[in-house]
Amino acid sequence: MLILLRAGVIGLNVALVLAEKGYGRHTTVIAEHLPGDTSINYTSPWAGANFSAISASDPNALRWDKLGYMHLLSLAAKDGKNAFVKETPSVEYWDELPSREKIDSMAAYLKDFKEIATQDLPAGVAFGIKFTTITINAPMHLLYLLRKLTQEYGVQVIRKKLPRVSSGYLSKDTKVVFNCTGNAAKELPGVQDSKCFPTRGQILLARASHVQQNIMRHGKDYETYVIPRPYSNGNVILGGFMQKNVGTPDTFGEESESILTRTTDLLPALNSNETEVLGAFAGLRPSREGGARVARENVQVGDAGRRVVVVHNYGAGGTGYQAGYGMAVEAVNTVTEEINALDIQSHL
Ligand SMILES: Cc1cc2nc3c(=O)[nH]c(=O)nc-3n(C[C@H](O)[C@H](O)[C@H](O)COP(=O)(O)OP(=O)(O)OC[C@H]3O[C@@H](n4cnc5c(N)ncnc54)[C@H](O)[C@@H]3O)c2cc1C
Ligand SMILES: *[C@@H]1O[C@H](CO)[C@@H](O)[C@H](O)[C@H]1NC(C)=O
Ligand SMILES: *[C@@H]1O[C@H](CO)[C@@H](O)[C@H](O)[C@H]1NC(C)=O
Ligand SMILES: *[C@@H]1O[C@H](CO)[C@@H](O)[C@H](O)[C@H]1NC(C)=O
Ligand SMILES: *[C@@H]1O[C@H](CO)[C@@H](O)[C@H](O)[C@H]1NC(C)=O
Repeated sequence: MLILLRAGVIGLNVALVLAEKGYGRHTTVIAEHLPGDTSINYTSPWAGANFSAISASDPNALRWDKLGYMHLLSLAAKDGKNAFVKETPSVEYWDELPSREKIDSMAAYLKDFKEIATQDLPAGVAFGIKFTTITINAPMHLLYLLRKLTQEYGVQVIRKKLPRVSSGYLSKDTKVVFNCTGNAAKELPGVQDSKCFPTRGQILLARASHVQQNIMRHGKDYETYVIPRPYSNGNVILGGFMQKNVGTPDTFGEESESILTRTTDLLPALNSNETEVLGAFAGLRPSREGGARVARENVQVGDAGRRVVVVHNYGAGGTGYQAGYGMAVEAVNTVTEEINALDIQSHL
């Protein structure tokens, strides 16, 4: 049996990869929060979400991004409406030059990629690109994943808060545990990974059905973006903030003001009587120094010292949607041998 801890976008993508390989009926998801819930301890529903060049430039990040983009692009083409993912034109600006490696890597696979000529950049912007991004309606996409996993693939879901690290939830035939704990990687007693920290973001949810493009500007110490939520009744996400080590769930009026001012400067079309702010929210990106941890570990449980493989998969920071599928593919690849040895009939 394969157990999956947690039901954020990271955990659900691991379940999807296992299910696509035919192991859905042998997979169980255990989580305190499930799609449909909102909590400051459940980051996934708060994402914009889009695919952007904001991720890191190390080889892991570049690989996960590419896998994630290809997966989302094909999902948008095959089942976009049900999955709430959609191709959307995007513009990204940087006030300081981004790493060339990063841009070259993305230029190789992003659809319709184009560098913007210097004379066409707004004042203060050093570099800009245009491409076709994927926008994701985060809360609806999570519900889609859950429905697909349970109804099509027979994945079991159990809602349960695990008070602390314990192996009490493991049955005798559990062979592999995937650990996709989000921000809890820092807090769970005994699970502390001191490299983990939250990066808070405040966003505004607005109705602006006339906005059909994604646009973002990466400043030295600010992040400004406008992201339409696909198949949503004309909603857009306006942001934002990247506050390292800030963990408050509160929202602040002055941050909302700052978001409105910056996004309207970036996209003057927002300044219209058709734009209506519906609410302010805050989410905590599960960040980790050096990037996400995708790695296997052999552990012993119980008195008999039975061996279980734990696959860690946490610390996706601001890129859980764009990199999540790529991280899941690699997490599952670390246990190919164990999975093949399970002697399970594939149920495709
Ligand atoms: C404002 C904002 C905008 C963002 N925009 C984007 C974007 O445009 N594109 C993008 O790619 N990413 C974006 N992100 C980042 C993305 O949301 C995260 O990377 C992603 O949600 C992380 O998912 P996760 O599964 O690791 O964590 P979570 O979604 O937090 O899931 C954690 C899971 O673990 C469970 N859990 C934790 N502790 C326990 C316990 N003790 N017992 C049982 N269950 C437990 C929770 O219940 C939950 O199911 C954004 C984030 C924010 C805040
Ligand atoms: C979020 O998690 C922290 C740490 O586990 C806990 O102290 C806090 O009460 C939780 N907040 C909510 C709203 O559940
Ligand atoms: C757009 O994508 C980047 C990278 O995935 C993310 O960090 C940023 O927060 C996103 N913007 C919104 C509004 O979600
Ligand atoms: C989850 O991950 C942490 C590492 O951060 C590890 O210490 C812990 O044992 C893992 N949980 C399980 C059930 O293996
Ligand atoms: C916005 O203003 C225009 C012209 O002033 C008007 O025709 C339109 O009905 C208004 N729309 C809304 C949503 O109020």
